[in-house]
Amino acid sequence: MATTEVLVMEDTIKKDTTRLTTDWQAVRKQFPVLQQKVHGQPLVYLDNGASSQMPQSTIDRINRYHSAEHSNVHRGIHTLSQRGTDYYEETRKKVKKFINARHLEEVIYTTGTTDSINLVAQSYGRKYFREGDEIILSEMEHHANIVPWQMIAEQTGAVLRVIPMTDNGELKMDDFHHLLSDRTKMVAVVHVSNALGTINPVEEIIEAAHARDIPVLLDGAQAVPHSVVDMQKLDVDFYAFSAHKMCGPTGFGILYGKKELLQEMPPYRGGGDMIDKVTFEKTTWNDLPHKFEAGTPPIAVGIGLGTSLDYLNEIGMEQIEAREHELLDYATQELSKIEDVRIIGSSAKKASVISFLIGDIHPTDAGTILDQKGIAVRTGHHCAQPVMQHYNIPGTVRASLSFYNNEEDIDRLVEGIKYVKEFFG
Ligand code: ALA
Repeated sequence: MATTEVLVMEDTIKKDTTRLTTDWQAVRKQFPVLQQKVHGQPLVYLDNGASSQMPQSTIDRINRYHSAEHSNVHRGIHTLSQRGTDYYEETRKKVKKFINARHLEEVIYTTGTTDSINLVAQSYGRKYFREGDEIILSEMEHHANIVPWQMIAEQTGAVLRVIPMTDNGELKMDDFHHLLSDRTKMVAVVHVSNALGTINPVEEIIEAAHARDIPVLLDGAQAVPHSVVDMQKLDVDFYAFSAHKMCGPTGFGILYGKKELLQEMPPYRGGGDMIDKVTFEKTTWNDLPHKFEAGTPPIAVGIGLGTSLDYLNEIGMEQIEAREHELLDYATQELSKIEDVRIIGSSAKKASVISFLIGDIHPTDAGTILDQKGIAVRTGHHCAQPVMQHYNIPGTVRASLSFYNNEEDIDRLVEGIKYVKEFFG
C-alpha cells in the first residue's frame, strides 16, 4: 500500500516538471559569454544550433582540470592519472544516465557527431555492406549524415536512397515505407533537422526498419540538447551527438550503440588504448567501449561535458524543452508579422530553430547587418545543401534558440530584421 502511494506521488511530481518554474533570468546570468556587447550592443546569441554556450560551472571545471589535475588517463599508476581517469570515466556514467542507455559500454567517446557517424559508416559498413546494398537517408540530412555514407558506398558498392520531404519540411513517410526493402542495410536519419527544426517521426522509422531487421542510426546533434532522449524507449541502434551543442565544450561527442552490434564491429581507428595485446604478427582488441577509443582523448572537455550534464539535469530537460517551445512559439508569431519574411520549414513538430528569408535579400547580407546590431545568427546552407536545393534558395538566415534566450532577444531580432529591410530599401 505504502509503495503504491509513493509511486503515485512520483508520477505527480514528474508531470509537474513541464510547468515552467525555473528562474530563467538567473539561468542566463550563469553564461558569461552572454554578458558582453558586440558592436556596442548587448549580445543576442541566436546561433545555438551551431554551438551553444557553456555555463560558468563547466568553464570552472575545465580550468580546474588544467590548473590542478592534468595528466593522461587510462595509463598511469600515479595519483593524478588515476584521479583523472575516474573523473573522465564519471562522464560516461552521466551520459549513460542522461540518455538512458542500458549498458555503460554502449557509450563511446568520439570527437563529435560527425566522428560518431563516420565510425559507424566505416566500421559497420566495411563489415556488412556489399555491392547493391542500400542505405536510406533523407533529403533533410546534415552533410555529416550524407558524406560518410557516400564514402562507404563508394568503397563497398552500396547505394544511397533518399526519403524526400514536403515543402513544409516533413519527411514523406509513404515514400520511406516504399524505399524499405531486402536490399536496405541501414537507415540513417536526422532526429531534428538543423536547417528546418523539423522533429522527425523517428519512432515510426525505427519500428518499420526493425520489422525488417534493418538497423537505424539517428543523428541526434540537434535533439539531445533540447529534449529528453531515451535510448531504451527509442530502441534505436546507433545515436550520435556532440557535447558543444549541449552547453559543453567542443571536440567531444558520443556514439551510443547497442552493445551486441558494437561487439561485432571492427575498430575504426588503431593506436594506444584500443588494444588488448600487440605483436607484429597480430593485435587483439580491447573491450568495449575502449575498442573504439584510440589514442589520448580530449580529457578536459570530456570531464567538462560531465559538468554540463549536471547543469542541464539541475534545470531539468523537461523544463528546457517547455521553455524553448515557448520561445519558438513567440519567435514564430513575431516573425510571421513582418511583411516579406518567409519562414522555411513549418513542420507541425518543430524544435527551436527558425530558418527564414527576408524578401530577396541574400542571407549573408542580412546576417552581416544583424551582426552589426549585436545579433548572432547563422546564414547560408547550414551544411544541408540538399535542403536548400529543395527550396531552390542559396541559403537561409537561421535563428536557433536555447533556454537561456528570452523574449527580449526575439524582440531585438525583429527590430534587426526591420532594420535590414530598411537598409536594403
Ligand atoms: N551543424 C551545425 C549547425 O547546424 C554546425 O550550425
